[in-house]
Amino acid sequence: MTEQTTDAIYKTDSLIAEDIDAYLETHQHKSMLRFITCGSVDDGKSTLIGRLLYDSKMIFEDQLEALSNDSKKVGTQGQDIDFALLVDGLAAEREQGITIDVAYRFFNTEKRKFIVADCPGHEQYTRNMVTGASSADLAVVMIDARKGVLVQTRRHSYLCHLIGIKNIVLAVNKMDLVDYSQDVFDQIVADYAAFAEEIGIESFTAMPISGFKGDNITTAPSANTPWYDGPSLVEHLESVEVLADVAVDKPFRMPVQWVNRPNLDFRGFSGLIATGSIKPGDAVRALPSGKTSTVKSIVTFDGELDEAVAGQSVTITLNDEIDCSRGDVLCVADNPPETADQFEATLVWLNDEDMHVGRGYWLKLGTQTVSATVQQPKYRVDVNTMDELAAKTLSLNDIGVAEVYSDKPLVFEAYEQNRTLGGFILIDKITNATVAAGMLNFSLRRSQNVHWQATDITREHHANMKNQTPRVLWFTGLSGSGKSTIANEVEKKLSLMNRHTFLLDGDNVRHGLNKDLGFTEADRIENIRRVGEVARLMTDAGLIVLTAFISPFRAERQMVRSMLEDAEFIEIFVDTPLEVAEERDVKGLYKKARSGELKNFTGIDSPYEPPLNPEITVNTVEMTPEEAADHIIKQILPLK
Ligand code: ADX
Repeated sequence: MTEQTTDAIYKTDSLIAEDIDAYLETHQHKSMLRFITCGSVDDGKSTLIGRLLYDSKMIFEDQLEALSNDSKKVGTQGQDIDFALLVDGLAAEREQGITIDVAYRFFNTEKRKFIVADCPGHEQYTRNMVTGASSADLAVVMIDARKGVLVQTRRHSYLCHLIGIKNIVLAVNKMDLVDYSQDVFDQIVADYAAFAEEIGIESFTAMPISGFKGDNITTAPSANTPWYDGPSLVEHLESVEVLADVAVDKPFRMPVQWVNRPNLDFRGFSGLIATGSIKPGDAVRALPSGKTSTVKSIVTFDGELDEAVAGQSVTITLNDEIDCSRGDVLCVADNPPETADQFEATLVWLNDEDMHVGRGYWLKLGTQTVSATVQQPKYRVDVNTMDELAAKTLSLNDIGVAEVYSDKPLVFEAYEQNRTLGGFILIDKITNATVAAGMLNFSLRRSQNVHWQATDITREHHANMKNQTPRVLWFTGLSGSGKSTIANEVEKKLSLMNRHTFLLDGDNVRHGLNKDLGFTEADRIENIRRVGEVARLMTDAGLIVLTAFISPFRAERQMVRSMLEDAEFIEIFVDTPLEVAEERDVKGLYKKARSGELKNFTGIDSPYEPPLNPEITVNTVEMTPEEAADHIIKQILPLK
């Protein structure tokens, strides 16, 4: 096997980083173009990729032999090898293991190295395309010359445009099957141009090709298309400007990956330069702190540099000790990016479970991670018609625009300006699944004008005056499980012990503060968010707060826990089986729910997620409310 053929690496998404590193090392001197191919199975995508790999001699020789045997079997004539068999064969192999959504292939020519992301066109198209396209410099939109511009051509082009791919190649494929007709080609290009203008694609490069026969793939024009005077596909791929080159001309930004402090004499900030360039002596600013300094040195494995540019991983030391840690961003001092905590964003929903409006997700933007909530979408886009539709949530493969609020300020730039500082993902806090990819459009002005007001009488002061440690005793359980009754007993006992308490009860709070909320999932999430905020304010005031809410979802109970100080949140699971609560039916609501008169009732047609690790569990079948209260008091003692 030659050194070159080993480059044809075919690996999973998770291995991509490693592969890229190895690949870069081998071909360091060449620039790299990442591109994506879009189209459905029949458009000849596999054949084209197979052809590119073959023409750049990237196919393993034994695979080539197997291929020509296979091609014979399926009746391919003469010289033509069916390249689709190669790619599809690899795909079949791959599917025996875990399903991988995006396959990356590596090849290189004399001038450049390439990574192509091949996204299968099945029903999960959006997720796959977003994954494949997010780092691409260019997209090859495949069209079958016999079929012309299809709905899916529009869909794929829209997604590529949304993700910010500026270089679009319209590859009108299978020209051999339309007798290399210029009229057919011109008509398709005209149709596509009209659509491209509609969605804001500024320019594209159209070329007539045949992946199967090889026309206009490596050299152009093919003898079959003398009327075509543009470049071949490979010539074009070799000459377009790559993102990395564009990034160098932008202002300097480097998200800090880690602070390198091997000894007391050295403190460097390590990261990958996202945009711009930097030299020793340059004035820089750390965000969000806003502190400035100048660059002392730029350190790499190979020694110190006089200059570093976008795409390089470096460690920067500064002339002053400034506050800067992982997740912060180093930037040019006089042109910093914005900092904000409320945004409008475009989201692509990637998870089987729908988006939960108001739920806290981890938002990862470069090296920054914060907790964030998404509001009800302003609209959802129908990717086939580009219509903007009303939506209450986002489901798998949906694209929508919504406001996103983060609990800490984020250093960011609009995605259009900077993919690194404008692109983010949302992660489910409980399952750790990536549920969405997003693009920040702009910050909402109101977020920049509200500041935290420091007060002189602190929460410690309040607590000391009451001579107690603030706590939140969070009762959760089904309706009719006994939360309010037991919480009431506990409060009575605490007040006899001279504790300053307050009981927040579901039914009561829903008469006042939360009277605008019903029992949809989004309303319950908002109900608990508000109660959590109120409970937190009450702990700031030094109180022991008792709350009695069904609070059916783990995520929101976890959210309240994380809003409070360590050990301040005590989750008490009032464990009453549904049959028992239903049998008691104190308010007659179960009966109404069973008869269909009352919708979204917890335990009947709305879920309840019991706590996994509650601090305290009380079993109301075995204990009276009085005994349950004693049990709880015993558990929380010694309570100063
Ligand atoms: S939560 O789910 O948002 O935490 P919360 O504790 O505030 O609920 O309110 C629950 C109380 O509202 C129940 O005890 C019951 O009296 C009343 N209720 C009315 N409709 C419903 C419903 N569809 N599901 C649950 N409780 C309901």
